Amino acid sequence: MQIPITCVILAAGLGTRMKSKKAKVLHRAGGLTLIEHVVRTSLALTPPERVIVVVGHQAEQVQAAVSRYGVRFVQQTEQKGTGHALLACGAELSPTDGLLLVLYGDCPLLSSDTLGMLVERQSASHAAATLITTVLDDPTGYGRVMIDEHGKVRAVIEQKAASPEQLEIREVNSGIYCFHSGLLWRYIDEIRPDNPAGEYYLTDIVEIFHRDGYEVEALRLDDPGELLGINTRLDLAAVDCNFRERKVRQLMLDGVTIEKPETVTIDAQVRVGPDTVIEPFAQVLGDTEIGEDCRIGTASIITDCRLADSVEVGPFTLINDSRVEAGAKIGPFARLRFDNQVGADAHIGNFVELKKTRLGAGAKAMHLAYLGDSVIGEEVNIGAGTITCNYDGVRKHQTTICRGAFVGSNSTLVAPVVVGEGSYVGAGSVITHPVPPDALAIGRARQIVKEGWARRRKEKASGN
Ligand code: UD1
Ligand code: CA
Repeated sequence: MQIPITCVILAAGLGTRMKSKKAKVLHRAGGLTLIEHVVRTSLALTPPERVIVVVGHQAEQVQAAVSRYGVRFVQQTEQKGTGHALLACGAELSPTDGLLLVLYGDCPLLSSDTLGMLVERQSASHAAATLITTVLDDPTGYGRVMIDEHGKVRAVIEQKAASPEQLEIREVNSGIYCFHSGLLWRYIDEIRPDNPAGEYYLTDIVEIFHRDGYEVEALRLDDPGELLGINTRLDLAAVDCNFRERKVRQLMLDGVTIEKPETVTIDAQVRVGPDTVIEPFAQVLGDTEIGEDCRIGTASIITDCRLADSVEVGPFTLINDSRVEAGAKIGPFARLRFDNQVGADAHIGNFVELKKTRLGAGAKAMHLAYLGDSVIGEEVNIGAGTITCNYDGVRKHQTTICRGAFVGSNSTLVAPVVVGEGSYVGAGSVITHPVPPDALAIGRARQIVKEGWARRRKEKASGN
């Protein structure tokens, strides 16, 4: 029978060193809030009803950030330290039940593989707990891990409580533990706030176990990368960089070309098909899926989109919450604001903005246009400078341009209006009435030519 695992995530602290109005775990790295990362990692090991998030500072906002995962919450109204935070869960938890993982909400890089290794190590031992440690060149700020003559952990000494010799220790506590649940709850009450900070340090439990003859194991990771905790905004940037590196490395191994990968931002959930090329400084964010053989141009930002195969996005193009079918070309310098559908092989060129618009297969809007609240048929040609006037100051109205229509340059289409199938709109027209299929609509002042007018004017001027 599998041993039940409960995860407690400590996330009640404010994170003073962030110097922020916002609770630390609500800051973002790698496209998600810190707390979301840790919750998602926990869910790889245990079902949501066994994940408990300890909240305190901005409890409501922290709960809102992860409520969709179905995890449980415990309030720690006063933040008196990590030991105190875990104690707050006592009433919610069954004390003799399996293993208890404790994670800190400010340590988001931890992978579920590593967490699995921790559980295995603890299950295979007779120890009261196993903690993840690593050796750092600069251990400042972390709790130092003291190892006894048997290679077991004797104590964890917090930076603030450490002697100068103890500060020399470079093996540090990651803040990730796997406890034998029964033993934890038997001893947790013995943690005392007898340190300079007056806090209940969870780490003191190690010494308490040791005193009563229980062993504590260390799972030492060679690569400290995953264990980076966030205390300051410098740490936040370092962790974000780490997430991005992880993502681009994985995508490249899966067959995506990424040029100057150190400049590219791709969120963790993004999927990209093989042989797609992502150019320098591109950002692919949120819930986005990109097909095979696409190209994403320099400095483009694509958020929450579906791009089918062989889509080309030129440089400096913004696409948000939209769907683009195979073979379409968008940009450079285009903006798809939201809720657009671009058909197969359609072209959208520079300085064209789309909002809530369906563009049919093979349709073209190559230069300088605004197409909002419109339904545009297949093979329609939208001339340079075309504007859909979708807003009358009160409400939005729809423009419909039917299949194969040709809208001449600098046309103004005052919605609601329909341009019929196969029809033409003359350049510079203001269209306020429906255009029937196969018709030509011209809505502009007729040109007047005055023969010889310019010559006469010059002659008059020189005569003076
Ligand atoms: C902690 C560890 C330290 C370890 C380091 C790793 C303790 C006493 N020290 O130190 O050994 O090297 O993490 O990053 O555990 N929290 C609460 N309630 C509280 C206090 C904290 O929920 O009353 C939460 C915080 O929101 C945070 C986490 O616990 O997510 C860690 O707290 P923090 O104050 O950052 O601990 P460190 O000083 O970094
Ligand atoms: Ca910390």
